[in-house]
Amino acid sequence: MDAFLVSGPCRISGELAVSGAKNAALPDVAAALLSERPVSLDRLPAVADIRTMKKLLSGMGVTVSGEAPGTVTLDASRIVSTEAPYDLVRTMRASILVLGPLLARFGEARVSLPGGCAIGVRPVDLHIMAFEAMGARIAVEKGYIHAHVSRVGPGRGRLTGATVRFPQVTVTGTENVMLAATLARGVTTIENAAREPEVVDLAALLVSMGARVSGAGTATIVVEGIEALPGSPVPHAVLADRIEAGTYATAAAITGGDVTLRGAREEDLPAFVAALRAAGVDVSADESGLRVSRSGPLRPVDVETAPHPGYPTDLQAQWMALMTQAEGTSRVVETIFENRFLHAAELVRLGANVRVEGHTAFVTGPTRLEGATVTASDLRASAALVLAALVAEGETLVRRIYHLDRGYAAMEEKLSSLGARVARVPG
Ligand code: EPZ
Repeated sequence: MDAFLVSGPCRISGELAVSGAKNAALPDVAAALLSERPVSLDRLPAVADIRTMKKLLSGMGVTVSGEAPGTVTLDASRIVSTEAPYDLVRTMRASILVLGPLLARFGEARVSLPGGCAIGVRPVDLHIMAFEAMGARIAVEKGYIHAHVSRVGPGRGRLTGATVRFPQVTVTGTENVMLAATLARGVTTIENAAREPEVVDLAALLVSMGARVSGAGTATIVVEGIEALPGSPVPHAVLADRIEAGTYATAAAITGGDVTLRGAREEDLPAFVAALRAAGVDVSADESGLRVSRSGPLRPVDVETAPHPGYPTDLQAQWMALMTQAEGTSRVVETIFENRFLHAAELVRLGANVRVEGHTAFVTGPTRLEGATVTASDLRASAALVLAALVAEGETLVRRIYHLDRGYAAMEEKLSSLGARVARVPG
């Protein structure tokens, strides 16, 4: 298992190109299942989760050509299986995103229940509720979701458009229904839809494939189902990864550095950018991206995670690391997942002063961090530990870095190009 060996403290500066967004690329890749025509995607991030999703589709008969981050073309004209097996799904719960397209195009699917992960149980009951509302018959047996749509007349069973009102915002739930609705009979309205930029990116891809989607980015999305998607000859460039950008912006802020993030957009991170500025970090935006720098002291700023456009839960751990250097006490409230403070105890091992009470973490700084061996537990917690290691005195070994590789392409190279001392070592 790889680890990162980080020598601190350091101050990072320079320029970085933001990769394509993992959380846009995953539904974008799943969308290829909807069409007999090839779908081409540019800027897929070279991360483990994308490799897993490509392996999942290949197992169904999709031919995949090209390598991320170059153009990747997915051809789903000859599907031989509508099953997503446990051994792949358990490593990446976003595999649930194949359920909608398979049901829509083939009228059947057998998808392993994703299982939980470190940050929570991660149920998919809202996905199942939605597809049942669209006419699917779903049974959950022996850890698998068995879904099918009864045939009415010749050809495949087709989903029926419906009004799906989510009792709570679900990002992949919204995406799964949007995917399925493109080929349903009639109109589907998604109420209380997720408004994340990644949902908007998926909608743009689907429209380029000939789907009729409107309202993406708002709380109500309307999809008019059609018989088949004609496909699109134009490659779709995946949205820039706002969470990667936010992670490196936090690296600039915590080290008192100065970094330009090419491709990052302030409108994708409104609450995060507001929090950075409130903390005394300079953030300037132009058409090429965001420039983030800090020269003065860090002020403590409270954040509470919420669905977009609120503060992103995927930047909560990174904020906690930053606030260990702020002059005072701040509150970090996690409202989306039930167990997303696993990084707190590891930050304390580096010398941070963090007290967790239920869904609230109280962070008091500034504390002098000292290098130590720490262990990553999930994707964004790993990033928080690396950020803290950048300012810790001495060497920090961040173990189980495979968590990081799921969502960050070549983090050690990107940080080293900005002047940090980070090496990937056997760990
Ligand atoms: C997406 O996960 C992201 N993953 C997550 O990013 C992100 O943290 C999350 O949205 C919230 O923004 C991808 O897009 C691949 P949800 P998702 O459904 O869709 C509950 C990362 O670090 N819920 O919006 O799985 C759920 O338990 C990852 O890149 C149900 O109860 O999250 C959670 O409490 C981590 N039943 C809340 O809703 C359901 O059927 C929001 O979850 C679905 C969700």
